[in-house]
Amino acid sequence: MIQHVATNERTVLRTLAVTELGPRIGRGLRSEVHALCDGRVAKIFRRSRKLRRVAREFDVTRAARAAGAAAWRVDEIVRLDGRLAIIGERVAGETYADALRAGRVSARQALEALVVAQRTIAGLSIPMELAGIGRPLSRTIGPSPVDPRLMARRAFSHGDLSLENLMIDAAGRTTILDWGSAGYGPLLADVTVANRALRRTLFQRSTPLRLRVTAPAIILAHRCLAFRALGLPITSFVLLSPAWSPLTRRRPAGLSA
Ligand SMILES: Nc1ncnc2c1ncn2[C@@H]1O[C@H](COP(=O)(O)OP(=O)(O)OP(=O)(O)O)[C@@H](O)[C@H]1O
Ligand SMILES: [Mg+2]
Repeated sequence: MIQHVATNERTVLRTLAVTELGPRIGRGLRSEVHALCDGRVAKIFRRSRKLRRVAREFDVTRAARAAGAAAWRVDEIVRLDGRLAIIGERVAGETYADALRAGRVSARQALEALVVAQRTIAGLSIPMELAGIGRPLSRTIGPSPVDPRLMARRAFSHGDLSLENLMIDAAGRTTILDWGSAGYGPLLADVTVANRALRRTLFQRSTPLRLRVTAPAIILAHRCLAFRALGLPITSFVLLSPAWSPLTRRRPAGLSA
């Protein structure tokens, strides 16, 4: 069984010199992404992020790419000033969230990319001992929905699929970032995560008004497209509790921040 712990190989990590770091090109909740002098990037984690978690993200990203997903290429884990970082390819282009806000992709294109990514990911067979279980269900969707068929479908899930974690290059190719929450779980949970992230993106202050006014329709369209593409019973989504409605912004009870 593959362990998600520091192997002997990983306990002796190369140390990256601060002088090798270029400007910051991205930022998330768990990390900052910097350009490197050699053209690649370093995803530098917060000090609190343990090697076990970073190694798991690294392994899952690699496995997803090897299995055919458009995951970014990761090369090595390094230490940097008391923190851990994943070094890998610098993806050309911009996030779908930025492209959508700037009008460089349409809402329809963004939704298609999101749903195609989700369907591809759900079809991956990543070894269970490598991927493990994704986010606990209660944290993802709150109380179970009315229709038990919705909970029955399990698959490999990204766990944090959003337009911020999808990049588009000049040729229109998509790359999927940020596999730190991936693992096996109910397909419905992953659809919900993506749907909630979409809502967050569309209602952000930096989102132009033209998108904000159509946001409820875009959110609903995502729900429909994702259900159809993933083979979830589309009729049952009308039975979902109000907390799931694309029109409400309330978090389901029991959902931690
Ligand atoms: N390989 C890359 N090439 C170019 N830009 C990148 C790359 N990886 C990340 N970025 C940029 O950095 C941002 C943050 O990266 P990422 O999502 O991996 O970090 P995170 O801390 O895990 O984010 P989250 O808040 O979603 O958990 C991305 O939205 C993207 O803009
Ligand atoms: Mg991210």
